[in-house]
Amino acid sequence: MAIERTLSIIKPDAVAKNVIGQIVARFEGAGLKVAAAKLVHLSRAEAEQFYAVHAARPFFKDLVDFMVSGPVFIQVLEGEGAIQKNRDLMGATDPKKAAPGTIRADFAESIDANAVHGSDAPETAAVEVSFFFPGMNVYAR
Ligand code: PPS
Repeated sequence: MAIERTLSIIKPDAVAKNVIGQIVARFEGAGLKVAAAKLVHLSRAEAEQFYAVHAARPFFKDLVDFMVSGPVFIQVLEGEGAIQKNRDLMGATDPKKAAPGTIRADFAESIDANAVHGSDAPETAAVEVSFFFPGMNVYAR
């Protein structure tokens, strides 16, 4: 399987709960490496631009409000099949439907505050990684 890079965001709810380390440990335990990371408080413009693909959806304002409500921990994760591996570790978007042992099942409260974001495909990983880490290639090698 190819070495990939993917974007992960630990969202404001999980940062506020002080579980950054526990979540990163899950990525590392699954064989993913942290290739870049930063703790930032997104501006409204940044959050709106990042989630622009969802601009027409009814929850868009709630999503943006939530993402600017506190700091987020943004990482580039690298490893074999990193995009799908990260999605599997995250669990379903709605924590109530997330499989036991996934990050959202263990750390998230609701679909509005669901602890983590992960790129869903190679194309989105490329866009999302360069959005937060300009000049960083998605292909490690
Ligand atoms: S996904 O992960 O893109 O397949 O999920 P999707 O259902 O398309 O949701 C896109 C992002 O919107 C968030 N979301 C919500 N936010 C607030 N309120 C409601 N009701 C809601 N439903 C979905 C969801 O967490 C996704 O955010 P990211 O950051 O991409 O995971």
